[in-house]
Amino acid sequence: MGFPKNFLWGGATAANQCEGGFNLDGRGLANVDLCPAGKDRNAVITGEMKMFEFDENHFYPAKNGIDFYHHYKEDIKLFAEMGFKVYRMSIAWSRIFPNGDEEAPNEKGLVFYENIFKECRKYNIEPLVTITHFDCPMYLIKKYGGWRNRKLIDFYKNLCRVIFTRYKEIVKYWITFNEINMILHAPFMGAGICFEEGENREKVKYQAAHNELVASAEAVKIAREINLENKVGCMFAAGSTYPYSCNPQDVWKALKTDRESYFFIDVQVFGKYPNYALKEMGRNNCLPEIFPEDLEILKNYTVDFTAFSYYNSRCAAADPKQSETAEGNLFVSAKNPYLSYSEWGWPIDPMGLRITLNEIYDRYRMPMFIVENGLGAVDIPDENGFIQDDYRINYLREHIKAMKDAVELDGVELMGYTAWGPIDLISAGSGQMKKRYGFIYVDLDDEGKGTLKRKKKKSFDWYKQVISSNGENLD
Ligand code: BG6
Repeated sequence: MGFPKNFLWGGATAANQCEGGFNLDGRGLANVDLCPAGKDRNAVITGEMKMFEFDENHFYPAKNGIDFYHHYKEDIKLFAEMGFKVYRMSIAWSRIFPNGDEEAPNEKGLVFYENIFKECRKYNIEPLVTITHFDCPMYLIKKYGGWRNRKLIDFYKNLCRVIFTRYKEIVKYWITFNEINMILHAPFMGAGICFEEGENREKVKYQAAHNELVASAEAVKIAREINLENKVGCMFAAGSTYPYSCNPQDVWKALKTDRESYFFIDVQVFGKYPNYALKEMGRNNCLPEIFPEDLEILKNYTVDFTAFSYYNSRCAAADPKQSETAEGNLFVSAKNPYLSYSEWGWPIDPMGLRITLNEIYDRYRMPMFIVENGLGAVDIPDENGFIQDDYRINYLREHIKAMKDAVELDGVELMGYTAWGPIDLISAGSGQMKKRYGFIYVDLDDEGKGTLKRKKKKSFDWYKQVISSNGENLD
């Protein structure tokens, strides 16, 4: 009983939140580089405020990240010491294609990732590669308008063909888009979209969604053509939505809220648009332009597994005045009075992970992968400089227990678990460094100052023991 023998334990990062080296070895600029920390971040990531160039009044944390670009050997060595079986990371598109629409790739970018994969293999760590984790080359945004333009599908296909070919021998697990449902909540960060005055924003977002869905299916097709051993997954920001009460109006609101996210995965798993989405988009005048060949590709190239992030559950009230609101992974929802909250106001709900796992499995009956989960918290070193992060250990322990119940008692099929940010990195939502998730501390502050020195926290040995006992020893 317990977790399967080959369960993939590990951690997950994203290029833009850790690499840095934004202008090194031919890398081009990307949307994620231009998301500043501070009060304007939200306006920029949601596409309300145009930020196409760096300016002197803002600090851009992704420029240097935690300098994984120069520290990857040291960092992967630490992951290996924790016993990682898998390392989920992403490729910065503009390292491989600086503008995005070139024919030929940038060799130096390809070599960088090749070295990372080799380093992983050295320790028997399986790479799980997200093809795009929010990033889109700025040139594609300026020239084509980002994912609102279907030309992006071809550029993305080119990227896929190049990386699937080059890394054929060393990478088998791929994710097409990180949190594909983020297009709806953070359209600039998620899909390189900035809105023009007076345009139908919903239509733009759903057009971008359609283009990404087609691109994702095209990626599955190419992956299979190149290597039948490739396994390609979809990925979304999950977390079941509870009705605020048993009032049927609240129940209906909760169901509809969940459908906003499931809609993407319904297409990627079932190979066609669900009726509820077509009806809703039709009513709201935001149906995307869909070509007949799109329907074919969507139908024929569905994914091999469903991956998702889980930080918190959500709660929906039909009447917004009925409850207070709560923050969460880029979604605001009604405040659930039964839960406790993190320092950033995110609900903490381990049981919600079991519920979410069961819901997703009931819906898709397909192997799942939890590719992000964790607690963002401020870490204060004690008098010896050591970080006793029991709060993080408690959060993870309870979530791993809930995941174990879902596997052991409910029989869901789960391929693995990668904790978010095994090493401290830049927060996607806030751009802060002090919102830390890691088992490894990085000496860096919110202004980009620090020695970048890496240090193990208390949770480092704890997670090591979780992995070595295959999830049996959680004390
Ligand atoms: C997910 C993203 O939204 O949540 C990550 O895939 C992100 O990129 C993570 O970092 C946690 O969110 P935050 O805002 O705390 O960094």
